[in-house]
Amino acid sequence: MAYASLGRIVAQWGMTSRAMTIRLAELRDAQPIAAMSRDFIEAGLGWKYDSARVMRAIRDRETVAVVACDSRSGAINGFAIMEFGDERAHLVLLAVRPSHRRTGVGQGMVEWLVESARVAGIASIHLELRAANEAARRFYRAMGFYETVLVPGYYRSGEGRKEGALRMLRVLRTPGPLPAAWRPPRMEDPKR
Ligand SMILES: CC(C)(COP(=O)(O)OP(=O)(O)OC[C@H]1O[C@@H](n2cnc3c(N)ncnc32)[C@H](O)[C@@H]1OP(=O)(O)O)[C@@H](O)C(=O)NCCC(=O)NCCS
Repeated sequence: MAYASLGRIVAQWGMTSRAMTIRLAELRDAQPIAAMSRDFIEAGLGWKYDSARVMRAIRDRETVAVVACDSRSGAINGFAIMEFGDERAHLVLLAVRPSHRRTGVGQGMVEWLVESARVAGIASIHLELRAANEAARRFYRAMGFYETVLVPGYYRSGEGRKEGALRMLRVLRTPGPLPAAWRPPRMEDPKR
């Protein structure tokens, strides 16, 4: 089942605050997303998420890529990419421009993705981060994730440099089949 498609249904509602809009990434966003990945996530590890790879992620029906934009100028200040499996989702990349950190941009994107994952019936969200990235660890802890395991040498740069990763997990529901009565919320549901 294309769970990401369900995620995209949630995505179409959009999420707007006074200063920030979170929306699905479009192909034209690939270059700024790739540059943010290079500068804020992959620095020192080699650049794997270049524009071509980000474009593939944006096109992929099982992957949701979102951007956080300035509501007035449209400038992209953050992005996140999450892959949807049957029961597990993998938060692959997430970054916010330094100028916009600690203003709730990262939290807004995580909440957006968690809502999409819940609608898609996902049981747990998994991620890895560089073991030394204390700021991100604290951020994910604040977002309800907890550490599961340290993986030595998980990241390898082109120059043979290795770096450990910390795996983190957020549980959304008990794993296993969804209750028979479960259905995704209807978009016109007046309670929402
Ligand atoms: C991690 C990152 C995405 C956080 O984004 P952000 O928009 O600054 O986070 P928010 O403003 O939504 O923070 C929400 C909460 O997380 C926690 N938090 C976020 N950054 C933190 C930090 N540097 N130190 C401690 N706690 C932090 C706080 O509890 C914060 O709430 P508060 O500001 O009210 O105290 C951002 O620092 C970043 O882009 N880092 C570089 C890329 C990266 O490491 N990505 C993650 C691995 S892929």
